[in-house]
Amino acid sequence: MATALITGGTSGIGAAFARALAARGDDLVIVARNADRLSEAATELKERYAVNVETIVADLAVRSDVVGIGERLASVERPIDLLVNNAGFAVRVKLTAADTTPHEHAIDVMIRAVLMLGAVAGRAMRQRGAGTIINVSSTAGFMAMGNYSAIKAWVTSYTEGLANELHGTAVKVVALCPGWVRTEFHERANINVGSIPQVLWLDADRLVDDCLKDAAAGKVISIPSKRYKILITLVDHVPHRARRAISRIMRPSRH
Ligand SMILES: NC(=O)c1ccc[n+]([C@@H]2O[C@H](COP(=O)([O-])OP(=O)(O)OC[C@H]3O[C@@H](n4cnc5c(N)ncnc54)[C@H](OP(=O)(O)O)[C@@H]3O)[C@@H](O)[C@H]2O)c1
Repeated sequence: MATALITGGTSGIGAAFARALAARGDDLVIVARNADRLSEAATELKERYAVNVETIVADLAVRSDVVGIGERLASVERPIDLLVNNAGFAVRVKLTAADTTPHEHAIDVMIRAVLMLGAVAGRAMRQRGAGTIINVSSTAGFMAMGNYSAIKAWVTSYTEGLANELHGTAVKVVALCPGWVRTEFHERANINVGSIPQVLWLDADRLVDDCLKDAAAGKVISIPSKRYKILITLVDHVPHRARRAISRIMRPSRH
């Protein structure tokens, strides 16, 4: 029986991973800050799918909390077969803001924690000769919309580097690059989504199904949905100058 560890497993994309993996019979370890929500999610998953669900209350911005999650990931007696580095949030602060602590916080959660957990999982999985690491990035990483784009560009590039480092082992590494997905992400960041065309919205459960298929097929970059595949192929082919101009237009709604 497989076990998956999901950061941010209580809401949105992380909760969709939890449902999809539990539905195929995987045991889960879910991580988030809100203890009440974690235990509610665990109870629901256990009742609905009859799987084991452990919870870890942790703030990924706190280094010692990340070290604690790493210890669970490194366990030889209770191995983790799939790590989903998912927890994250929007960053809507200007790069020139006097107070850069929101940027530093975002880097701690969406870069430092991903790097630390990826290192532990990569070593443990390589040693066992099996495992999958999914890092939730974003199509924003292909654009130039402030620190969030820069962080997600790092996540995608880091994932490719990790995939190269583990090339030839049985460990699979995937960067999931979603477009707009209906979750709590936008509400938490007070993002006005009124101007986002309906056609650009993705469903979290469908997105996760597509990503798990891509992971099984050995894809390193997973861009779910035909429309986003086409959009990102176009973005990849326009000059950086044009990409920056498009990013300037999109920036007011999504930093
Ligand atoms: N929704 C989109 O349109 C979209 C698009 C592209 C990429 N993404 C990426 O998808 C990932 C998941 O986002 P989502 O849309 O599912 O957002 P969401 O619904 O707001 O869920 C975020 C999850 O992360 C947890 N979390 C946040 N900060 C944390 C911290 N410091 N430590 C531990 N857990 C933390 C939250 O739980 P607690 O608050 O209890 O900690 C929650 O479980 C993020 O990496 C995001 O950048 C989202």
